[in-house]
Amino acid sequence: MEEIRIPTKIYSGTDSLNWLTKISSKKVFLVCDSFLPDTPAFNTIVGKINSSNQVSIFSDVKPDPPLENIMEGVKQFNDFKPQIIVGIGGGSAIDTGKAIRFFGEKVNHCEIEEFVAIPTTSGTGSEVTNTSVVSDTKNHNKFPIMEDYLIPDVALLDPKLVMTAPKNVTAYSGLDVLTHSLESLVAQDANTITDALAEKGIDIIFKNLVDCYKDGNDEETRKVVHEASCAAGIAFNNAGLGITHSLAHQLGANFHIPHGLACAMLLPLVVEYNAKNCEPAMHKYAEAARKAGLASTGLSDRIAVQRIIAKIKQLMIQMNCPRTLRAFGIDTEDAKSKTDIVVADAKKDGTFPGNPVVPSDEDLKEIYQRVIK
Ligand SMILES: NC(=O)c1ccc[n+]([C@@H]2O[C@H](COP(=O)([O-])OP(=O)(O)OC[C@H]3O[C@@H](n4cnc5c(N)ncnc54)[C@H](O)[C@@H]3O)[C@@H](O)[C@H]2O)c1
Ligand SMILES: [Fe+2]
Repeated sequence: MEEIRIPTKIYSGTDSLNWLTKISSKKVFLVCDSFLPDTPAFNTIVGKINSSNQVSIFSDVKPDPPLENIMEGVKQFNDFKPQIIVGIGGGSAIDTGKAIRFFGEKVNHCEIEEFVAIPTTSGTGSEVTNTSVVSDTKNHNKFPIMEDYLIPDVALLDPKLVMTAPKNVTAYSGLDVLTHSLESLVAQDANTITDALAEKGIDIIFKNLVDCYKDGNDEETRKVVHEASCAAGIAFNNAGLGITHSLAHQLGANFHIPHGLACAMLLPLVVEYNAKNCEPAMHKYAEAARKAGLASTGLSDRIAVQRIIAKIKQLMIQMNCPRTLRAFGIDTEDAKSKTDIVVADAKKDGTFPGNPVVPSDEDLKEIYQRVIK
């Protein structure tokens, strides 16, 4: 029996923040991205929470949330004892909110009544997933905490909030959406429902992401991409991910490559690898290519997959994304010396079992070596 879970209530549109006006007589803990305080967007959000509530704000969120930083938030949680947490920002902020909840509830033997997620990147899909990706900086490790109760109760998708994202954040987080879509499409627990969401995510990113990158103020395009990000989150939360993410987490932990960029560097290599070693995966990629208008029905699966790979590389070039560790400025000898630890940690990552093919250590090494140069 397959279980398909979409427990989050999702509100989309420029009026979605109005949902916050419903909160009454609660202790509300806002865990917000560090770019937000003093912005008009943040004033709007805080202005929707009426004066019957008590509000406490934690805004010292760091990218790739380090555990020490999360513990600072847990201290504030312990003092304030919130009933509602609102996580606002990129994936790092929402994940920080989830991780504060994870540890805060354990320490205080309490349960949060409601977790509200308001994403400002399109993005990680964290607003609908059971995952909080945290960094153990001392051990150069980045790993997902995965618990179904961490799935947010409410997600508010306001496309206006994404418009201030710098170009590189738009590019990297959008490529993360593409990675979630392509990985969940062929993942071990994929089904018809997750396939539909994943295929739509692929189509929307291929057709709209570069437009968002070029003109970040186009509200309609931002809305479509924001919804695609959420759809891809639902897809991978149910279907699983794969070795693009298992390896990308290691590139984040060891070299501080932004998550979506790390995924995008690896994605063409992993699509090629999975297609070569798993025929059903090749067929699903090919079908997605056809549906996105990249290949006609007469073309073979193999050529259709090549079109997807070429399209990913083209998007990266159009959005000025470095495609290798070397191009990002990483010392290649240093990167090579970390091969064994990268491979070992990738195999331990929570996303590893989702891949349609179980790779050997040699396979993982080869993919990693190719992303270095
Ligand atoms: N929980 C999940 O399911 C999941 C899935 C994939 C990735 N992740 C994790 O999420 C993190 C990446 O999240 P992300 O790609 O959203 O980036 P991010 O949250 O790290 O944000 C990147 C930068 O953009 C800034 N920013 C965000 N939104 C902005 C806006 N609207 N205007 C101006 N600046 C803005 C942030 O302050 C930050 O400096 C990684 O740690 C990754 O591992 C989580
Ligand atoms: Fe991701």
